[in-house]
Amino acid sequence: MRPPAEAGAEYDLRHHGDAEVGDGLVDLAVNVRAGTPPSWLADRIAASLAGLAAYPDGTAARRTVAARHGRPASEVLLTAGAAEAFVLLARVLRPRHAVVVHPQFTEPEAALRAAGHAVDRVLLDAADGFRLDPADVPDDADLVVLGNPTNPTSVLHPAALVRRLARPGRTLVVDEAFMDAVPGERESLAGGTPGEDVPGLVVLRSLTKTWGLAGLRVGYLLAGAGLVTALQDAQPLWAVSTPALAAAEACMAPEALAEAAEAARTVTADRAYLVERLRGVPGVRVAGDTPAGPFLLLHLEDGAEARLRLRESGYAVRRADTFPGLGPDWLRVAVRDRRTTDGFANALAMATVALPDLPALPPLPGRADGPGPSSGPAGAPDLPGSPGDPASPGSAHGPDSPGFPGRSAATAPGGSGQGR
Ligand SMILES: Cc1ncc(COP(=O)(O)O)c(C=O)c1O
Repeated sequence: MRPPAEAGAEYDLRHHGDAEVGDGLVDLAVNVRAGTPPSWLADRIAASLAGLAAYPDGTAARRTVAARHGRPASEVLLTAGAAEAFVLLARVLRPRHAVVVHPQFTEPEAALRAAGHAVDRVLLDAADGFRLDPADVPDDADLVVLGNPTNPTSVLHPAALVRRLARPGRTLVVDEAFMDAVPGERESLAGGTPGEDVPGLVVLRSLTKTWGLAGLRVGYLLAGAGLVTALQDAQPLWAVSTPALAAAEACMAPEALAEAAEAARTVTADRAYLVERLRGVPGVRVAGDTPAGPFLLLHLEDGAEARLRLRESGYAVRRADTFPGLGPDWLRVAVRDRRTTDGFANALAMATVALPDLPALPPLPGRADGPGPSSGPAGAPDLPGSPGDPASPGSAHGPDSPGFPGRSAATAPGGSGQGR
């Protein structure tokens, strides 16, 4: 662990990857599985619209979620995405010493702060592979929030280690929003440990990533019945809509779980391919020893500049300097299919080639705006699937798109680099 967080260092906790996509860019910034929701799920959701005149009744969905995790229904609360669960917890709990283990998804901290709680940060160290050491968490912390697998580091903490954070008098919130992308959901604490009680454990799950339901808002929380009741009392009436409840039920069916398991295997193979391709890009380092999420955290010098150049090549990646503990040289990229990865890896290789500091050229006669777009730096790799290659998904702007971006990216979409 690094020394306690840079006091006063501020981060835009409310920045999310969705602010970085659009404009025809290939989306590597948002971690929702590509090609989702599947048509059978969209059909189930559409069929539920016939019941919209009635107020939502979550009884069946709650029972189905409980059965999937081998728990009683009293230990399940359906929520409008994991995001709602963070807010409910922040409003209901009265922590004297709240600790968030970073770098991780920033909404838990944002929700705690918005509810008036002070938040301490434990910063895991890049040099240590962002590994968790339970001893880093102060003994007197009565609320601890951890992501597993963690966004953005892609680190999957061993369940045994996470369990060591639990103790009487402490609420331990484990955000498992991406656990269904891990084959076998190994290291999940959602089902509890038979014969072993983990005191104060709260597990959050999301159905928006694997199933492509970010716009629907659906997830759930698993906890002791007493806390579930308190959270339910604080939840607005009918917070989870009828279509969201239909989706929750559908996603618990054995065929759906089998599909999610298959998707997790695909992500594992696609991630290995992405890691391999990135190994061929000088100066780019993948965080963590064994990434386990459907995304990777990358470190590269001049990462902020590379991100802007990538945008000009047609690729949106997630800036990671809004995560406490990280800076501008960190970028997060979603795992996609091999073809997309090929295009991206080539674009990254181009984006990371150092440009010589050339003396400024005089304006061309008759041109007030100086020389046209650069055709690429000397020494830039000339690779198939490069941004100018119409076969590459990276060439989202088609064959007319400019070649390698020049040094100035100030006009790139979203290039101001400001969060929303
Ligand atoms: C780690 C993590 N947890 C929770 C969420 C929120 O998920 P939901 O869409 O279910 O609110 C996100 C969304 O990006 C996330 O990355």
